[in-house]
Amino acid sequence: MTEILKISELTKIYKNKFQALNNLSLNINEGEIFALLGPNGAGKSTLINIVCGILNFDSGNISVNNFDIKKQYRKARSLIGIVPQELNLEAFETIWDNVNYSRGLYGKPTDHLYIESLLKQLSLWDKKNDKLRELSGGMKRRVLIAKALSHEPKILFLDEPTASVDVEIRKEMWEVVKRLKNKGVTIILTTHYIEEAEEIADRIGIINNGKIILVEEKNSLLKKMGQKILKIELAEPINKIPDVLSGFNLEINKEMNILTYIYDTKKSNTGITTLLSEIKNLGMQLKDISTKQSSLESIFLNLVKESKNELVRS
Ligand SMILES: Nc1ncnc2c1ncn2[C@@H]1O[C@H](COP(=O)(O)OP(=O)(O)OP(=O)(O)O)[C@@H](O)[C@H]1O
Ligand SMILES: [Mg+2]
Repeated sequence: MTEILKISELTKIYKNKFQALNNLSLNINEGEIFALLGPNGAGKSTLINIVCGILNFDSGNISVNNFDIKKQYRKARSLIGIVPQELNLEAFETIWDNVNYSRGLYGKPTDHLYIESLLKQLSLWDKKNDKLRELSGGMKRRVLIAKALSHEPKILFLDEPTASVDVEIRKEMWEVVKRLKNKGVTIILTTHYIEEAEEIADRIGIINNGKIILVEEKNSLLKKMGQKILKIELAEPINKIPDVLSGFNLEINKEMNILTYIYDTKKSNTGITTLLSEIKNLGMQLKDISTKQSSLESIFLNLVKESKNELVRS
């Protein structure tokens, strides 16, 4: 596996002395979709803007395809495309002119065929002569992707590509990103939407307070850390959870007829058998029983909470 982007011991301190990135290291594999998850202010945009040369940094090393981002800036930068968090476009130009112009900014020779294929891939070809101000938010976002890809970069950064867009456009964007991956583009995206990372990422990184607190394959993350929820629906409501069941930390709904039990799939003894036999011994009748895998969301929230606690302790 080739590591196309290497970031090591990166530190960023803003002018007001705020340390936004703290000794951060991260490597990105060629061809992957990497989702960087983190709460507001975690340092996601700061990190992306540094790698894209928009912001300076204080210490550390960054290389893109082994080109040092400081010493070989032009070479490194030509391999990167970025779709920034804020949408800003020259409103009076057409899509076609705008995207072709972007390519020129990188000193790349005109290539109408490439831009045509790009616009087709992004379902913008029919709209190529439309003025940017006439486009919907989702289309503007796609134009920004087209601009970011106009110089044929190997890496595409998407800073919150689906912030404030509706569910339909979000799903459409996921398809666009998957298609780009199939074309060989390495994609790094930031998001607050856990389901987005769950849906499209190969690997997930979680950032909090300027530090990467976890990097893991999505599937193994879900498997390794996933908890399961057992829902036990009773035939009749009860008055309270019986004392003999107190060790299971059960929760009960308002209607007093559904018990939930959270267990760790990693443990050899999940406690399910004992719980069910205790319930049977109590003579409680069951109506239904179901299990659900806990989501990345609960994993994420737990990790961010843990790292906050660590910060308080240290
Ligand atoms: N120009 C600046 N001067 C001082 N502090 C800044 C500056 N820009 C950002 N910060 C601070 O750095 C931290 C990281 O900001 P950043 O924009 O990287 O977060 P983010 O993870 O992208 O958040 P969001 O999810 O809200 O986009 C925040 O605490 C922010 O207030
Ligand atoms: Mg941001």
